[in-house]
Amino acid sequence: MVTINENYLKLKAGYLFPEIARRVKGFAESNPDAPIIKLGIGDVTEPLPEACRTAMIKAVEEMGDRATFKGYGPEQGYAWLREAIASQDFQGRGCQIDASEIFVSDGGKCDTGNILDIFGKDNTIAVTDPVYPVYVDTNVMAGNTGPVNDRGEYGGLFYLPITADNNFTATIPDRRVDLIYLCFPNNPTGATASKADLKAWVDYARANGSVILFDAAYEAFITDPELPHSIYEIEGARECAIEFRSFSKNAGFTGTRCAYTVVPKSLKSKTADGTEVTLHQLWNRRQSTKFNGVSYIVQRGAEAVYSPEGQSQIQGLIKFYLENAQIIRQKLSDAGLTVYGGVHAPYIWVKTPQGLSSWDFFDKLLNLCYVVGTPGSGFGAAGEGYFRISAFNSRQNVEEAMSRITAQFN
Ligand code: MLT
Repeated sequence: MVTINENYLKLKAGYLFPEIARRVKGFAESNPDAPIIKLGIGDVTEPLPEACRTAMIKAVEEMGDRATFKGYGPEQGYAWLREAIASQDFQGRGCQIDASEIFVSDGGKCDTGNILDIFGKDNTIAVTDPVYPVYVDTNVMAGNTGPVNDRGEYGGLFYLPITADNNFTATIPDRRVDLIYLCFPNNPTGATASKADLKAWVDYARANGSVILFDAAYEAFITDPELPHSIYEIEGARECAIEFRSFSKNAGFTGTRCAYTVVPKSLKSKTADGTEVTLHQLWNRRQSTKFNGVSYIVQRGAEAVYSPEGQSQIQGLIKFYLENAQIIRQKLSDAGLTVYGGVHAPYIWVKTPQGLSSWDFFDKLLNLCYVVGTPGSGFGAAGEGYFRISAFNSRQNVEEAMSRITAQFN
């Protein structure tokens, strides 16, 4: 008999977003005329920027000519894209990141999950609570967790509660942990971290020999010039942090697929026998073995994000979604709900009214308002009593959803 990876059986029923989709599908089948508005999964709705489309169309034409046709590309991404990323996303902001430290990929979700391939099995792992579920589930799959307690927490994970009391930025642990997952601007709470917050984490990681896995998928939504976009804005982060970025939310690539991960060459660890190893060398080996790179066409589209037209078009998209977020914040506050986030992030974290549980509020919104959001408890035990609303939708849908909710809860 073939044995299986039984760690998968430890996972909670379904991954959060497919589980929501399943419930919504069931509702839609029994209520075929209900005009459902989805503010659940953070999926973009606005078209790809023209600069990206034009670059991709040109790349398609190149693929149709033997002289310019491309087969396999470099597993790490084409040099011209890695250089544009390094210079505009990092060096331009004073971060010493070289193009050779950038690994282009097909998604931040894949990279944050796959990164576990290069780490050992006996690390202590810290995640925030609430948290983007991928960090937890991929650790469960990798066998890094033990039994689940009655709060739904996995043994072997060290949970860092993020609550209104700590401004939704995790408090530094009073014990040593090896791997620390941080996401700012935060998914799901929409909170941001200041330079001082990140410095405290970098100092902790350096003092303890820990590695920070920093998810900056939402950095483009930061409008306050004082807030850091990258962990590498903090001195010493090159020695202790890996950063994940994505073109999904800034340039609308959720369906097109392009992202990247930064692994500085100065980030090192030691083998059991004391040999020094760079994490860059391991990730490079992992990617060149398990991944064949992102398509040439898509990488040309991503490169266009860095052109002057691309930059102005993505700024337009970000402004649009942030205005949606502002409308959601305003309307829900006017209706007496307590809201967090949504200022430098596309997510609004709402305290559920009338003491409702997260899933009860989900059902109420779906049944009474035909609006879909994401129950806070789906992101962890400390998310219970909260609800996430995504600002990714058309203006018309956001306004309509808000008027339905405020009519119901005013
Ligand atoms: C979310 O809704 O949290 C995001 O869409 C998830 C993701 O980017 O994978």
